[in-house]
Amino acid sequence: MISKCLFPAAGYGTRFLPATKAMPKEMLPILTKPLIQYGVEEAYEAGCNVMAIITGRGKRAITDHFDISYELEHQIKGSAKESLLTDIRKLINSCTFTYTRQNEMKGLGDAIYKGKALVGDNEPFAVILADDLCINPNGIGVLRQMIELYNKYRCSIVAIMEVDKKEVHKYGVIAGREIEDGVFLVDDMVEKPESDKAPSNLAIIGRYILTPDIFKLIESTPAGKNGELQITDALLTQAKEGMVLGYKFEGKRFDCGSVDGFVEATNYFYQNETNR
Ligand code: UTP
Repeated sequence: MISKCLFPAAGYGTRFLPATKAMPKEMLPILTKPLIQYGVEEAYEAGCNVMAIITGRGKRAITDHFDISYELEHQIKGSAKESLLTDIRKLINSCTFTYTRQNEMKGLGDAIYKGKALVGDNEPFAVILADDLCINPNGIGVLRQMIELYNKYRCSIVAIMEVDKKEVHKYGVIAGREIEDGVFLVDDMVEKPESDKAPSNLAIIGRYILTPDIFKLIESTPAGKNGELQITDALLTQAKEGMVLGYKFEGKRFDCGSVDGFVEATNYFYQNETNR
């Protein structure tokens, strides 16, 4: 039912300078796999086969990554190294990758709006921020959990997790009533609140299911926190006019947009990678 996944990847990744001076943040690897490939694998596992990527200047490595490299493949053909490309080849063969550019960094809401040209405005779609790496070692992936919930409620859904009150200023934060275990009917949402003004400690992380009416709502949303067009503001309107759910997902999330989270993910994958 949900076949398209949007990957806003136009950010500058300034926290990783100088590594991100000429290389997209989304191509930073956890062990040997770039962050964006983890995201695409999660979307594919959830049933998506159209990967719509919002890029910016200097992001060509992403386009090249999801394409065949004839010289390289010829070079390693028949060697043991060939198997290292099995996973990426499967994605390339099974999915369609589409791209558009966000010319100016005007916020996540604007990046998602640019995706309208790729995902259309007549069906729900998923959004993954690849710098939030999510895994669920003992069960189904986070996006798949959200799509299953969508099939029940048919409305926009944001993935949420409890964070320390001291950390809420880094996130969009929701408030709402728990209507079933881990599922909240959102009635308030604030982008990056100060800790004493946060409506709760339930923080939005980089996984969304959005219904297509979000595009019209983004059009009428003014710039918000930090002068950027915030998806949180458009979602709050959607929550007030209709219904938005917050979903406490099962699994682990690493904030790979920060150096600490990136190192934590690297250590975790190094220790838990089975074939190492
Ligand atoms: P971040 O807040 O992590 O910003 O964006 P950033 O620029 O990528 O990283 P820093 O803070 O400079 O280190 C969250 C996600 O939203 C995307 C980013 O690519 C990232 O995946 N994004 C944000 C856009 O695509 N466009 C925007 O205008 C803003």
